[in-house]
Amino acid sequence: MMRRRFFGSLVAIAAMASLMGGCTKKSGETGTDGGASAAGGSEFLIGEYGSFTGSEATFGQSTSKGLKMAIEEKNKAGGIKGKQIKLISLDDQGKAEEAAAAVTRLITQNKVQAVIGEVASSRSLAAAPIAQQHKVPMISPSSTNPKVTEIGDYVFRVCFIDPFQGTVMAKFASENLKAKKVAILRDVKSDYSVGLADFFSKKFKELGGEITNDVSYQSGEMDFKGQLTQIKGAKPDAIYVPGYYTEVGLIARQARSLGITVPLMGGDGWDSSKLSEIGGPAINGSYFSNHYTTESTDPVVVDFIKRFKERHNETPDGLAALGYDAGKILFEAAERATDLTGPAIREQLAKTRDFVGVTGKISIDAQRNANKPAVVVKVDGTTNRYVTTISP
Ligand code: PHE
Repeated sequence: MMRRRFFGSLVAIAAMASLMGGCTKKSGETGTDGGASAAGGSEFLIGEYGSFTGSEATFGQSTSKGLKMAIEEKNKAGGIKGKQIKLISLDDQGKAEEAAAAVTRLITQNKVQAVIGEVASSRSLAAAPIAQQHKVPMISPSSTNPKVTEIGDYVFRVCFIDPFQGTVMAKFASENLKAKKVAILRDVKSDYSVGLADFFSKKFKELGGEITNDVSYQSGEMDFKGQLTQIKGAKPDAIYVPGYYTEVGLIARQARSLGITVPLMGGDGWDSSKLSEIGGPAINGSYFSNHYTTESTDPVVVDFIKRFKERHNETPDGLAALGYDAGKILFEAAERATDLTGPAIREQLAKTRDFVGVTGKISIDAQRNANKPAVVVKVDGTTNRYVTTISP
């Protein structure tokens, strides 16, 4: 019921956006021919949509830095089938309606041949039906909710999924932290948060643990003291907060100010340089699952971090690494494809096996997901210290 109404208004917004020539803000449109490039054009034209502004701005910005690095490297090496790759980037401001409008515009007006995005599962879910309908391959670098790739056979991802990620932290809580009782604080407006909370809860109970409270908030809220007071009363050994960094930072501060001292735990949505800025010392000592660790000694990772730092003077987060991997997987598939049409690229994407990525070895399975290990890290100021690796 909710879902149907949501999609109804989405279609209306997307249609309106394309009639008006798109109300989506452009950001860094680098294509020059505004749509003349199709499968037979002189360039390989790809689109990306993401949160370049808004409360999750580091998600879109980091992903784009990684993707652009992959594009530059490939173009220097001669491009794809002799064509240079051109990128058109659209800002969705972290809003699902804007994500749908951006993908509509990239496909129908700019005529991109493939789409990279989104980070957040709710926004990938809003936009993927459009890519599917137009038979334009879409790769989400980092949306982990299982429903994303279930949209259709043109929708791929290069990251693990949340039934696994939830299990990782449930095991970690039980085996490493020896937690018996955990409280959950979930964002009910985020498909990602709701899914991850459910997967964690199921696994933690299977392992013999107890969920003391399962309370919620809505992204954008800033006062969590009511929920935290309730949680404090139940005396859990840890609190699972599978949300995004902006709210998590505030939740950590408010938890500590209420005298809650147990560790917080979370998922990949914590991964941002802004987490420690917002959370301050309150977030230190908390744990989250993630796609890679900057403390890895794997030469592929070390080399990527070195080159990224030379360009941006900052350490790449997991999103930058996934944006880079998503781009490279797309380019390899396009290179192998018989031509640069959607169906031909799609066919090759589905055949991706043992691709050596910065975020691990990537094989695309029959559901168009990637089966990969996760790492658990501990927040220590601006550094996330590597704790352990958990394999599927
Ligand atoms: N996995 C999150 C989601 O699906 C997005 C995310 C991935 C955020 C990686 C940060 C880092 O919504």
